[in-house]
Amino acid sequence: MKKSYSIILGIGALLMLFIFLLVGHHRDIPDRVRLDRGPLLGTGSSVTERIKPVAQVSLASAETQREPVKSAAVAPSPSRNGQQVYQTTCVACHDAGIAGAPKLGDKGQWAKHVAKGPDTLYASALNGVQGAAGAMPPRGGNPGLSDTEVKAAVDYMVARSK
Ligand code: HEC
Repeated sequence: MKKSYSIILGIGALLMLFIFLLVGHHRDIPDRVRLDRGPLLGTGSSVTERIKPVAQVSLASAETQREPVKSAAVAPSPSRNGQQVYQTTCVACHDAGIAGAPKLGDKGQWAKHVAKGPDTLYASALNGVQGAAGAMPPRGGNPGLSDTEVKAAVDYMVARSK
């Protein structure tokens, strides 16, 4: 009698230990992981059913991420207008006429530059130019500027100086 009691107790203890470990194990798994495992345990159709929206979402987000890059490559739209580019880069020299740069708004200083025509001015601003008074660095020393932005800044400066 005593022996069968201890066997039952032993089995009971093992059972409790097993349940304890099982519950503890599951509690350790974060909800996210358990949810992720859901589709794998389902039937074939429920797997595709559950994966589908995820695939669509990631495709959609990839699409929106690619969109601005694509449109920027096709038609570079200036993120900054001429005045903004001037104020972030060109202002360093052209506002006070530093290093021999023609001052913004100084018609007398700009006249000989404007006379060269816009294409020459664009080329000077993009590639830089060594003048008698000083050197104009390519893109005003800001390689982050696009061609469109540099040209817009030239247009802005010329419009304000003639
Ligand atoms: C480090 C100083 C400096 C910065 C910054 C600078 N410039 Fe100049 N820039 C000059 C100097 C000096 C000249 C005069 C060159 C000369 O005598 O031909 C000049 C001349 C020019 C000319 C006349 C070029 C010609 O062929 O007559 C244009 C246009 C011009 N800059 C545009 C810009 C634009 C646009 C920016 C900003 C993106 C800019 N510059 C930033 C120094 C600078």
